[in-house]
Amino acid sequence: MSEKKEKTAKRGSFTGQLGFIMAAAGSAVGLGNIWRFPYLAAKNGGGTFLLIYLILVVTFGFTLLTTEIAIGRKTKQSPLTAYKNVHEKWGGIGILACLVPTIILPYYCSIGGWVLKYLSVFVTGQGTAAAEDGYFTSYITSNTEPIVWMLIYFGITALIVFFGVEKGIEKFSKVLMPILLVMIVAIAIYSLTLKHTDASGETRTGLQGLAVYLIPDFTGMTVKKFFMILMDAMGQLFFSISVAMGIMVAYGSYVPKDTNLIKSINRIEIFDTAVAFLAGLMVIPTVVAFTGVDGMSQGPGLMFVSLPKVFASMGTVGQIIGFVFFLIVSFAAITSSVSVMEAIVSSLMDKFRFSRRRSAVIVAVYTAIVGVIVCMGYNRLYFELTLPNGSTGQVLDILDYISNNVLMPVVALLTCLLIGWVVKPDYIIEEVTQGKYKFGRKGLYVVMIKFIVPILLFVLLLQSLGIVKL
Ligand code: PFF
Repeated sequence: MSEKKEKTAKRGSFTGQLGFIMAAAGSAVGLGNIWRFPYLAAKNGGGTFLLIYLILVVTFGFTLLTTEIAIGRKTKQSPLTAYKNVHEKWGGIGILACLVPTIILPYYCSIGGWVLKYLSVFVTGQGTAAAEDGYFTSYITSNTEPIVWMLIYFGITALIVFFGVEKGIEKFSKVLMPILLVMIVAIAIYSLTLKHTDASGETRTGLQGLAVYLIPDFTGMTVKKFFMILMDAMGQLFFSISVAMGIMVAYGSYVPKDTNLIKSINRIEIFDTAVAFLAGLMVIPTVVAFTGVDGMSQGPGLMFVSLPKVFASMGTVGQIIGFVFFLIVSFAAITSSVSVMEAIVSSLMDKFRFSRRRSAVIVAVYTAIVGVIVCMGYNRLYFELTLPNGSTGQVLDILDYISNNVLMPVVALLTCLLIGWVVKPDYIIEEVTQGKYKFGRKGLYVVMIKFIVPILLFVLLLQSLGIVKL
């Protein structure tokens, strides 16, 4: 083995471009795409949200993903030390970035628990019961069951990280991701054919839902409303492509030098966005057909309420499809939560020189405790807090808000200032092009990182914190 090869091998390295794309996609595609995107799109009126989200993907998403992956590959370090390596005085971004997965993990596992519960419901042939109105609410407001499922879900995640067997998982996800995609497409097509007549005699179709999802409706749009949607779309984008939380810096550090970053980044974004878009196509027409446009404001439970209805309407086959669906969503979720937990564990290992197992145990105890509190937020600890964006939230929504609407914009904003103004965009451009690769949107990148992204993030942040009310 040549000396150079030996060095990269020590750090652990992806096997070329495809390995990198698949691993990053495994982290990126998860509950964010299948559970979070459709409910935010529905809450924000469908088409308008979709349009804003897509514009953000090719501008903001592209800028931030490129920046983080390039920082990782250039410094060859994990986020905790990478930012310090970029500039001595800016190491703090790494610490802030590591806080994000710490907040996300417990609530991600609570939703993972919901997915496992639904999986068990379909395994035991009770899928039709789950299609009844009120099933989901009565489940999450029960005292112990959600906690048990959350702990089972988290237990699986923690074991994988504890024994360091993520590589095996990645191999698995290479097969499962394409199957998931095919299933989502099939269910999406089916949901377009739905027709439902409710108690009042009104008949609605999946195609009407499609129109709500695809056609932006700007009637009644105010500046305030626009910024609310923008804020949700931005938070969702960060969450979905796993940026502003150190993950992509860590992944970048494993990418071989001769990999064409821009090409890989485009593919990761296209894959992630396609899954989210199709998940919306699967959920929104169903919601509109069964509950009308009013049902769109249901919030985090949307997927769990609407999909069982689709499966029930398919008869016996629907029960099998429901089972396979929740099984694959479980895998997609696990590959993501493993990467969330891995981010925290490896940070502790780097910072305090703890062993992998010791770090994993510390993170596990913390996550289990906070996870239980999240579950209790729907029953014994129930309260309603009005968030600065106008929605009411329980523990889960509050954690989600702090990480996605406050901390991630802060991390992203600081990263922009560091790259755009302190070390200058050439730092990233050099790494990306390596003297031979084409950086097609270079001009756009420079304008985005220096001006547009930081200014917009600043405005959004003021709004998220409730300092400025538009
Ligand atoms: N991007 C993942 C999803 O969309 O489900 C979630 C996620 C992965 C969040 C990794 C945070 C993270 F560090």
